[in-house]
Amino acid sequence: MKEQMQDTWAVPERVREGSPNPIADFDGFLRARHAAEVDPDGFWLGQTHRLLSWRTAPTVGLDGGYHTVKDGPFSWFADGTLNVTESCLDANLESRGDKTAILWEGDEPGDVRRISYRELHGEVCKAANALRELGVQKGERVIIYMGMVPEAAIAMLACARIGAIHSVVFGGFSAEALRDRVRDCGAELIVTQDEGLRAGRTVGLKSTVDAALEGEQGVRRVLVYRRTGGEVAWNPDRDVWWHESVGKQSPECPAEIVEAEHPLFILYTSGSTGRPKGVLHTSGGYLTWVTYTFRTVFDLRDDDVFACMADIGWITGHSYIVYGPLANGATSLMFESTPVYPDAGRYWDMVQRLGITIIYTAPTAIRALAAQGDDFVQKYDRSSLRILGTVGEPINPDAWKWYYDVVGEGRCTIVDTWWQTETGGMLISPIAPATPVRPGSATFALPGVAPALLEPETGRVLHGPAEGHLVMTRPWPGQARTVYGDHERYVSTYFSTWPGVYFTGDGCRRDAEGYHWITGRIDDVINVSGHRMGTAEFEAALIAHDAVAEAAVVGYPHDLKGQGVYAYLVLQPGHEASAGLEKALNGVVREIIGAVAKVDIFQFVPGLPKTRSGKVMRRILRKVAEGRGDQLGDTSTLADPSVVDAIREGARV
Ligand code: WTA
Repeated sequence: MKEQMQDTWAVPERVREGSPNPIADFDGFLRARHAAEVDPDGFWLGQTHRLLSWRTAPTVGLDGGYHTVKDGPFSWFADGTLNVTESCLDANLESRGDKTAILWEGDEPGDVRRISYRELHGEVCKAANALRELGVQKGERVIIYMGMVPEAAIAMLACARIGAIHSVVFGGFSAEALRDRVRDCGAELIVTQDEGLRAGRTVGLKSTVDAALEGEQGVRRVLVYRRTGGEVAWNPDRDVWWHESVGKQSPECPAEIVEAEHPLFILYTSGSTGRPKGVLHTSGGYLTWVTYTFRTVFDLRDDDVFACMADIGWITGHSYIVYGPLANGATSLMFESTPVYPDAGRYWDMVQRLGITIIYTAPTAIRALAAQGDDFVQKYDRSSLRILGTVGEPINPDAWKWYYDVVGEGRCTIVDTWWQTETGGMLISPIAPATPVRPGSATFALPGVAPALLEPETGRVLHGPAEGHLVMTRPWPGQARTVYGDHERYVSTYFSTWPGVYFTGDGCRRDAEGYHWITGRIDDVINVSGHRMGTAEFEAALIAHDAVAEAAVVGYPHDLKGQGVYAYLVLQPGHEASAGLEKALNGVVREIIGAVAKVDIFQFVPGLPKTRSGKVMRRILRKVAEGRGDQLGDTSTLADPSVVDAIREGARV
């Protein structure tokens, strides 16, 4: 029965009962939080010794911190050695070798593969041996550009097995975006597949790799997994079939033992300025973080079937499809298709067929499914479900309540987990059996996480109920250590707005009971359907078109996608606004960034609002795009105030 008090939802009985974990109720949470606060090093050393397989157990916790970050990365567990795949694979062989590690559902409903821990161990070792044979060495970079096939996870783990650094590039990025990333990280090898399959349609992946590598010298090998059997171009000096190269290898591969701070992966993500940056995560701290948060937040049980619907190309897929679940010996779903293929009942069909107990998805998907009506949900038996998770963007209370009432029938709790590519894993989130929840709130910081709210104008720390910039005052083991090849950019992006703390880029409100309500990005990052994109990337793509003289892009509230993309354009003389031009511009955006990127609204303007020093006043553009053009405040510092009237009049919201 649902108990509801002042908009707080108590943890349902079914979620509370029988929790096997140390944090099984709110007191347990408070105790852990206290322990992590008084002795963070001791707390995390204790957790990591308990949860991971170390070759040399670490004796030190944090070394360095935000005050020393200018001089180089801080570290966790620096004197420990390990290989993360030993925690994810070898450690599970004896106790659960036959348990399903990866439960794969292909594009067509019911096209299922179950890969046990023993099989996964063998496959990863084979792929690792193949990578070694193809010349990949410890510390070298491998790009993985694939769809949602188990081989993508196998390739990630194979890299980790030999101490190579993987960088997964989401399959929706274009050849140009892929080439940028290949260059930036200096990749030696790319793992891809012939084609991806999504909603009954094929997506060329090998062909995109071919286009990205045209004229490039760095990449020596392309390892190609055959998914569809579609035609692909072949460069015999460079291309190797997965089934030929991996197939013939031995299923044993000694793990390369590395130091705790050895890089595990680079993941590119968008920021407010410039090109995407390669966020770097290391081995021991990252694995500790995802292992701890996965089992704690989801209150993991032996027979759970965990279904994270994210793509492996994003951090959510890294942390909560691959590393977190496997290091805990869980069964983790990999889903190749979309929530609406063949219809809006797909998730719930899988819940019924596969006995899913925990589902983890994005608010965008929840809103899209809610819009299709309850029948698609109610047709299927969801009694196996215990926990419903969300991630990637703020969830509006209506969508939250639909998830809770219709999907979960009031039996399941919702964990609204706030975190970022840079944080490695969850930082602010309910702990399923312990935390009473409020619709739309990510609730409290996890043990060992120290958030603060700063007053935007002054940087003063705010106490009690307040709203401000969300920062973290102390490193946690899973925090990204640097931006690959550009530590200065790491320092300037995250540690210069407010010295001495980590700046998240998000705004947040804290209520009287200490619940956190993320209000969204306060920098120039837009979050479209849970995909993070930089306005600067859009602007660079748009001005690549001959017709465009100047471009400024902002986000605006969008009912389904959370945020939409609003572009203000000044055209070159001789060009005129037209539907055809808008289409062509989106073609360029697609070519430069990828299929994930699209401008929703174009507004052609005579000029952009600029200060006298030439800086675009984005605040004004955001207000107009939000439909609040009548609340612009002071515009007297503009070089030419008349452009504002034109912008307001021509607003397309
Ligand atoms: C947003 C995704 C509100 C936030 C794991 C953050 C959220 C950005 C939530 C990171 C949430 C993520 N509630 N907002 N539960 N989770 N965000 O790097 O703005 O793709 O800064 O990592 O997503 O996006 P990223």
